[in-house]
Amino acid sequence: MVSQEQYELMNHDQNNTLLVLIPGLGAVATTFLAGVMAHVHHGRPMVGSITQNYKLPDTSETPDPRNFQPLSEHLGLPKLPNLAFAAWDITADNAYESAKKAKVLTPEDLEQVRAPLQEISPMPGVFISDYVRRLEPSFIKEGTSRVQWVAQLRADIQEQKKAHATDRAVMVWCGSTERFLKPEAVHQSLEAFEKGLNQDHPAISPSQMYAYAALLEGVPMANGAPNLTLEIPALIELAKREGLPIAGKDFKTGQTFMKTLLAPGLKAKLFGAQGWFSTNILGNKDGLVLDEPENFRTKEHSKLESLHSILETERYPELYGDLHHTVRINYYPPRGDSKEGWDNIDILGWMGYPMQIKVNFLCKDSILAAPIVLDLALLLDWAHGQGWSGIQEWMSFYFKDPHSEGKALHDLMRQHQNLLSTLGAE
Ligand SMILES: NC(=O)c1ccc[n+]([C@@H]2O[C@H](COP(=O)([O-])OP(=O)(O)OC[C@H]3O[C@@H](n4cnc5c(N)ncnc54)[C@H](O)[C@@H]3O)[C@@H](O)[C@H]2O)c1
Repeated sequence: MVSQEQYELMNHDQNNTLLVLIPGLGAVATTFLAGVMAHVHHGRPMVGSITQNYKLPDTSETPDPRNFQPLSEHLGLPKLPNLAFAAWDITADNAYESAKKAKVLTPEDLEQVRAPLQEISPMPGVFISDYVRRLEPSFIKEGTSRVQWVAQLRADIQEQKKAHATDRAVMVWCGSTERFLKPEAVHQSLEAFEKGLNQDHPAISPSQMYAYAALLEGVPMANGAPNLTLEIPALIELAKREGLPIAGKDFKTGQTFMKTLLAPGLKAKLFGAQGWFSTNILGNKDGLVLDEPENFRTKEHSKLESLHSILETERYPELYGDLHHTVRINYYPPRGDSKEGWDNIDILGWMGYPMQIKVNFLCKDSILAAPIVLDLALLLDWAHGQGWSGIQEWMSFYFKDPHSEGKALHDLMRQHQNLLSTLGAE
């Protein structure tokens, strides 16, 4: 643990690099990288990032209401030019080539950051086809067992730290959604997990191997996908043993963001709800992966959690007991990353009279996810500096299916409050 003063001093040192390790160099990761580089080289705004935009009121002895302190300064976070990056993928495209294929950003915007993006070439990934059936890997690690793959991932992390002359790193999983995986005995303790690794147990997923390697190398980690990765007793135990913060899961971006914003309002008014039907069309690689039923099941599970918890269906069965909650994702290539989501909400008012709310959100998936990657990377490093370890529930603001050892908090505004109070920024 370092004091806040030491942490701030560390970040004023131009040579003190924070290395951001990213498994999965696809649409979200490259949009995040391009945005950071466009900011560093061309001053583009960091819209949607709490760490880069939030301001605290002036707390000096004679406060001036026109003065505000940026959160990043208040926390002494690393400056963006002090970030370095490394990634893994199962295709060899560098970040520029991958961003071009993802078609999130305009060719003009990509051209501006072409050179720094081209410098980021992925390391070969650890991949097991059974976990992501729709992708054809062309750039994967050699080896035939989980023990060998973990050893290679650990060596990658050590090499990247050496190459960037830093010991300070965080990992944010931006890889594809893996198939649905139920916690099994092998996940229940670190001892069982390590035994399982030695026996090449099939229920240890690639994302869990990255997580295990990261934690053994002293790297905090967040999971941006809905797959079961960090939220197993074995890896929570390891994170606590190593004094490392972890957070997850599944970036809260489009439809669930709207849902966790609207549902608390309806609940505050104690309107009833009979149904919430959510459907999406999207045509990016993520959509292709989610077109596989077992991978969609992982996402569906993550997306369904929030309403039940916000509406407290057990406490108010007369208002929400019959709620039908359905979530669909349809792969529709013409839309690429420009997702369109529709929500139909059947609510009940005075005397049980039915009414409807319709929400039509035309969003850009990766534009919504990119600032979350930045915030998670910076806040994980900050939490590490505070000496915090295990699940960071105060980060649930960023996740669809927040990771919690008790009852998870889903209400967006309560999550926001929790985030700011933890950061001493209310
Ligand atoms: N708004 C959003 O975009 C959003 C929101 C919530 C969650 N997510 C999740 O974030 C993840 C990334 O989304 P995306 O749109 O960038 O998807 P993407 O398909 O563009 O990128 C994922 C990348 O991961 C790579 N990959 C797959 N398995 C790998 C492995 N084992 N090791 C290394 N690389 C691997 C793929 O080749 C691909 O390049 C997905 O799981 C998605 O469900 C995205």
